[in-house]
Amino acid sequence: MHLGLENRVAFVAGASSGLGRATARALLTEGCRVAICSRSSERIQCAAMDLAQEAGVPDDHVLPLVCDVTQEERVRTAIDRTVDHFGGLNILITNAGGPPTGTVLEFSADDWRAALELNLMSTINLTRAALPHLKQAAASTRPLARILMITSISAKQPVAGLYLSNVSRAGVQGFAKSLSEEVGAEGITVNTILPGYTRTDRLAHLSEALAERRGVSEDEIEAGWANQAALRRVGREEEFAAAAVFLVSEPAAYITGVALPVDGGAIKGLL
Ligand SMILES: NC(=O)c1ccc[n+]([C@@H]2O[C@H](COP(=O)([O-])OP(=O)(O)OC[C@H]3O[C@@H](n4cnc5c(N)ncnc54)[C@H](OP(=O)(O)O)[C@@H]3O)[C@@H](O)[C@H]2O)c1
Repeated sequence: MHLGLENRVAFVAGASSGLGRATARALLTEGCRVAICSRSSERIQCAAMDLAQEAGVPDDHVLPLVCDVTQEERVRTAIDRTVDHFGGLNILITNAGGPPTGTVLEFSADDWRAALELNLMSTINLTRAALPHLKQAAASTRPLARILMITSISAKQPVAGLYLSNVSRAGVQGFAKSLSEEVGAEGITVNTILPGYTRTDRLAHLSEALAERRGVSEDEIEAGWANQAALRRVGREEEFAAAAVFLVSEPAAYITGVALPVDGGAIKGLL
């Protein structure tokens, strides 16, 4: 299938590791120019060099940017720098780290606010900064304008101990669906992608935290996750990235307002 991604410009947030990084690599392989961001200068520079090499593209196809996506002004600067550098913006992929685990009374009001900043407000910050440029891209002679928000299976099926994630992801789903309705007439698609348990740094930290909390081994935690999936294993980053790339491609032009789980069949609801 021809994905129509050659010479398109993408911004992938939270891309120094994990799902964001894997998605950036897949977009580079398809011929995109990709801006990537994270909080750590060292990690994002290093990721940019490695990604160009892994994708077999020139170094200047990747633009590393230091940006904490909870900071509205920094987000605006990062998006503007991407547009200045590559000459436009076709694809926004929102992403960040995940919040800590715990039970309801363990979290302070500040913990709740921090989680909403990390997973909900970051998505809104990125979208507000990118939207004027995506509108231009949608109205151009080679139109392609896509927003894809990385959330979690917890948006459809709350995960025990992940209160902060369960709540903030639900907010992102509401934002995405509302936005898809508002910008659809311009040809801009807005979708969310819901990873299930996928092997990344975040998953390693999560299994360590849960193993300690429950007094079991990390292997037992991981086996439990694998067993929740119909496919009886955790996912791989590249499997997630393949679905993400399709959703932002040209052939996905008639898909908007959907929440796609990439979870090996972990969500048990019918829809
Ligand atoms: N992996 C899974 O199994 C899974 C399942 C369900 C949901 N998710 C969700 O999917 C998202 C990505 O997960 P992952 O497994 O890829 O996590 P990860 O390996 O921890 O990667 C997170 C990335 O986001 C960056 N980041 C974190 N906070 C940031 C901020 N405030 N501003 C900018 N960048 C930030 C990190 O880089 P720096 O540290 O350099 O900033 C890193 O590049 C998370 O929200 C996670 O909760 C993951």
